[in-house]
Amino acid sequence: MSLLLTGIAELVTNDGGGVAGDGAFAAIPAAALVIEAGRVAWTGPASRAPAADRRTDCAGRAVLPGFVDSHAHLVFAGERSAEFAARMAGTPYHAGGIATTVAATRAASDEQLRANLSSLRREMLAQGTTTLECKSGYGLTVPDERRSVALAAEVTPEVTFLGAHVVPPEFAADRDGYLDLVCGPMLAACAAQARWVDAFCERGAFTADEARAVLSSGQAAGLVPRVHANQLGAGPGVQLAVELGAASADHCTHLTDADVDALAGGGTVATLLPGVEFSTRSPYPDARRLLDAGATVALATDCNPGSCFTSSMPLAVALAVREMRMTTEEAVWAATAGGARALHRDDVGRLRPGARADLMLLDAPSHVYLAYRPGVPLVATVWQAGELVAGRPVMP
Ligand code: NIG
Ligand code: FE
Repeated sequence: MSLLLTGIAELVTNDGGGVAGDGAFAAIPAAALVIEAGRVAWTGPASRAPAADRRTDCAGRAVLPGFVDSHAHLVFAGERSAEFAARMAGTPYHAGGIATTVAATRAASDEQLRANLSSLRREMLAQGTTTLECKSGYGLTVPDERRSVALAAEVTPEVTFLGAHVVPPEFAADRDGYLDLVCGPMLAACAAQARWVDAFCERGAFTADEARAVLSSGQAAGLVPRVHANQLGAGPGVQLAVELGAASADHCTHLTDADVDALAGGGTVATLLPGVEFSTRSPYPDARRLLDAGATVALATDCNPGSCFTSSMPLAVALAVREMRMTTEEAVWAATAGGARALHRDDVGRLRPGARADLMLLDAPSHVYLAYRPGVPLVATVWQAGELVAGRPVMP
């Protein structure tokens, strides 16, 4: 059963770059798109659309690829609104708050964690996120990390083992003992259900050598690294990410010239998380410097109960445009195709024949409205692999 969406004022395809087709931002005006068997079967001008079994008129609205949120921490219990309120009253953010969520997560049942995770998942879908990455990292014991990756695997194939989030309190006097646990039994318990290994390489979390040990062990177990890097200050995280061929260095808030050069020259995506700077009242990363140097930039939410409790990719886009001087095209690309690059995926993040039919219809005529109308729920309808998964059915 094929479905023709027509009357699309702007179809963002991210299928630009000329004949070479390197997947740059591109959009077709007055467009149509055909979905068949969960995939995009055709895109082009509405005037040349082929026949299909069913036909839907998008009435002059925009269609975009579903957002690819390549950085989220969704397996947790409890909340830290008091910490947020204190921060807004002047207390600075520090990595130590993670321990509060670790205690709540350990005390929660599988069912409580699953319910929280699936409600965040629904919240994301309703805002257009059709691919998400999900980290462990609030368990920090072998059984709690094992169940965290298992729960994450119920909602996404993009599961990240983050045993190296912080050293938990019971190992405060024995960092080496904790690292042995992470690199040994904990990794062994988690590797089969994970695709990625992450480490928080930061003051108050793990040093470069400690993070390197964890990420290398993960690589030996078949996982691909990604790194929490340069969030709270300049540090070794970005260089470590590039050295290990990590898929992504995430945060990138405090970068030296050498960090920017390393990101521009390597295959590691710079994933910016502007919701964190918003929610911690910190200076935003310098996206222009990265883009002008030629680095690949992705945008993601970092949804977590501490540093940034939003699941909204439209907010990330709006902040990137307003606060980080990204163009609307760069921001939408970074939140879709950029996230796909950060997850080594080429089947999502763009709309071209053969891609998975993950897309959203906006109640707006163009992608610009995501930043032009901040805070307004513009995502009207969301399809994932061709199935309507959120929002209103579109009338024929
Ligand atoms: O990405 N940086 C480390 N982890 C999260 C924060 C987690 C928390 O505060 O609970 C982050 O910002
Ligand atoms: Fe994070």
